[in-house]
Amino acid sequence: MENLKEVSEEIVRCTLCDLCLKRKNAVPGEGNEKASVVIIGEAPGKNEDLQGRPFIGMSGRFLSKALESIGIARSMVFITNAVKCRPPNNRKPKKEEIEKCRPYLVRQLSVIQPKLILALGTSAASSLGIEFKHLSEIKSRFIDITLNERHFKCLVTFHPSFPMRFPSARKAFMEDLSKAFNLYNNLPT
Ligand code: URA
Repeated sequence: MENLKEVSEEIVRCTLCDLCLKRKNAVPGEGNEKASVVIIGEAPGKNEDLQGRPFIGMSGRFLSKALESIGIARSMVFITNAVKCRPPNNRKPKKEEIEKCRPYLVRQLSVIQPKLILALGTSAASSLGIEFKHLSEIKSRFIDITLNERHFKCLVTFHPSFPMRFPSARKAFMEDLSKAFNLYNNLPT
């Protein structure tokens, strides 16, 4: 059985798509290898690319504060992205890029075996193979998914950059976070 370090070492050497050409650092993800909740974002931005760590820029600070406000420290979860290298000018990752990167995500999830996956935004939901036309079809619902013959429970919510920019979405975002972490507190170990 592999561990997260082995997966990370492959990610930082990865050349499966052109995003490797401009990256300063790949961003495999970080946190607790035994986490009950894995949080998946979209892709690294400028700060993440410079430091090789996920969610350390503005939306990362917003996410960390939102988690802290419900008693969750970043060290309790594992945080990663659908795509591990920064897309130029922070554009949305392309479908092919998400697909090329998916095996790394699936391997990370297979190692951690979280009780819940919290998917932040449409790229994260797509990376889990969830089909939808609009986020509203899948948001705030527990969804059972199967990846590599393993079953996972997943909750999809906004990417934190959305409630960060639009305060009217903050209540719904916080309700989803609470829902995710309440479920995980109530699941048998
Ligand atoms: N946005 C993301 O989706 N992921 C990061 O790591 C940073 C910003």
